[in-house]
Amino acid sequence: MPATPDSAKSDAAKHLWHGRFSEAPADSLMAFTASIGFDMRLWRDDIAGSIAHAEMLGATGVLPRVDVDAIVAALHQVQGEFDGGTFAFVASDEDIHTAIERRVTEIAGAAGAKLHTARSRNDQVATALRLFAKRELSATARRTLALIDVLDRRADDAGDAYLPGYTHLQRAQPVLLSHHLRAHAWAFARDVERILDAVARLDVSPLGAGALAGTSLPIDPTDTQRRLGFARVFANSLDAVSDRDFVAEALFTLAMVGLHLSRLGEEWVLWTTEEFGFATLSDRHATGSSMLPQKKNADIAELARGKAGRLVGNLTGLLTTLKGLPLAYNRDLQEDKEPLFDSLDQVNRGLEALAEMIAAASFNADAMRTAADAPAAVATDIAEWLVARGMPFRQAHAKVGELVSRSLASDTPLVDLVRADAALGPDAAALFAPGVAVRRRASRGAAGPAAATAQRDELRRTVAALTARLA
Ligand code: ARG
Repeated sequence: MPATPDSAKSDAAKHLWHGRFSEAPADSLMAFTASIGFDMRLWRDDIAGSIAHAEMLGATGVLPRVDVDAIVAALHQVQGEFDGGTFAFVASDEDIHTAIERRVTEIAGAAGAKLHTARSRNDQVATALRLFAKRELSATARRTLALIDVLDRRADDAGDAYLPGYTHLQRAQPVLLSHHLRAHAWAFARDVERILDAVARLDVSPLGAGALAGTSLPIDPTDTQRRLGFARVFANSLDAVSDRDFVAEALFTLAMVGLHLSRLGEEWVLWTTEEFGFATLSDRHATGSSMLPQKKNADIAELARGKAGRLVGNLTGLLTTLKGLPLAYNRDLQEDKEPLFDSLDQVNRGLEALAEMIAAASFNADAMRTAADAPAAVATDIAEWLVARGMPFRQAHAKVGELVSRSLASDTPLVDLVRADAALGPDAAALFAPGVAVRRRASRGAAGPAAATAQRDELRRTVAALTARLA
C-alpha cells in the first residue's frame, strides 16, 4: 500500500515517541540501532523493575490502585508469556523495554499507558542491567568456586606427588603437585572476592532518576530500591543514568578470571605434550585430528588461552566507548550489553569445561618425579645446607655455582663433586636422594608437605568465607 501521510502517521504511532513524529523510522535506522536481538536477555529484570515501579507509583498515590493492579497483572501475564516461550515480538519492538511496555498496554489498555509515568528507558535500562549483572556475576562466582573445589580435590588426591617448579620455564626447584594446583586455586579465590566486591559496589538502584533529572511527580526511589532488593539508592540522577562503571568493572573481573583460565590452560597444553607428559586428558575432554590419526589435542586448554584475548577486547571496547561521553545518557551506552553477555557466557563455559577437564584427567607422577629429580634442582638446597652450618649465603651460592660449573665442564655428576668436597661430603650428598629436596621446604606457604596441610586449611577457610558472602 502506498504510504500516505496518514498511514505513515499510524505506522509511526506504533513507536513510543510517535507524538512528535509524522514518519515511521527508516528500516536502516532500526537495523542499525535496535537492540532487541540481544537485550531480550533482560526480560526478567525489566519486568521486575516495572513491577516495582508500578507498585511504587501506587504506594505514593501517583497512580490509583486499580491502575497499578491492572499493570501488575499484565506484567505477570507477560512474564508467563516469556516463561512459556509464547511472547510475540513485533517489528517496532526496538528493545526489550519497548516490547514489554507495548505488550502491557495491549493487555491493560489505558492503565498500561500509565506504566511509564515518571520513568525513562534511561533509568529503566540501567536498573534492569544492574539486576542482571548482580545475579549473573554471583552465578559466575559460584562456578569459579566449583573450579576451586576441583583443584582442591585433585590436590588432595595428589598425595606426595611432586614435579619441577619452574621459573623462566626452566626447572627451578621441586614442588608438590598439590602445591602447584592450589596456587591456581588461590588466584581463582581472589577472582571470587573481586566479583563479590564488584557486586557490592553495583548494588545501587538508579530507578527514579528519570531521563536525566528526576521528575516533578511525588515518586519515592527508596521504595523501588527496597522492592528490588538493592542495597542503596542513587544520589544524583545524571550519574544514575550515565554510570556504566559497574559494567566496566564486571568486564575487568571477568577478564581476570579469563586470564587465570588462560594461564592454567597454557600449563595443561604443556603438561599434556609428549615432551612434558605430566598429565593425560580423558578422551571426553580431548579432541582428535581430522588428518593425523595419532593426535589427542588439548583444545579446551588452548581455547581457555585463546578466549582471554576476546575478554580483554570486551573490556577495552567498553572503556573506549565510555571515554568520550558527556553526561548523561547517550545511545552509545547501549554498547554495554553485548560485551557483558559475551564475557559472562565465555567465562562460564570456560570455567565449566576446565573444571571437568581437570577433574577427569590423570596425572603421570612418574614423569613428574623424573623431571623433578634432576640433580641441578638440588643446588639451592646444597647452598642452604652450607648456610645452616654458618656460611654466608653469597659465599655458599658461589661455591655451589662453581661445583655446578665444574660438573658441566668435566661431565661429572654434581652429587659426586658434592660428596668429595671437604666442606660438604656425604651428608650434603644425601640431599640428592629422590624426594628429599621437596620435603625440606617447610616454611610458611612453602612447596613441601609440612606446609601443605596448613595451606589446605587456609584455602578452605577462605572458600568458606567467600561462600558465606555469596549466600
Ligand atoms: N536500548 C537502549 C539501551 O540499551 C535503551 C535506552 C534507550 N534510551 C534512549 N533514550 N534512546 O541503552
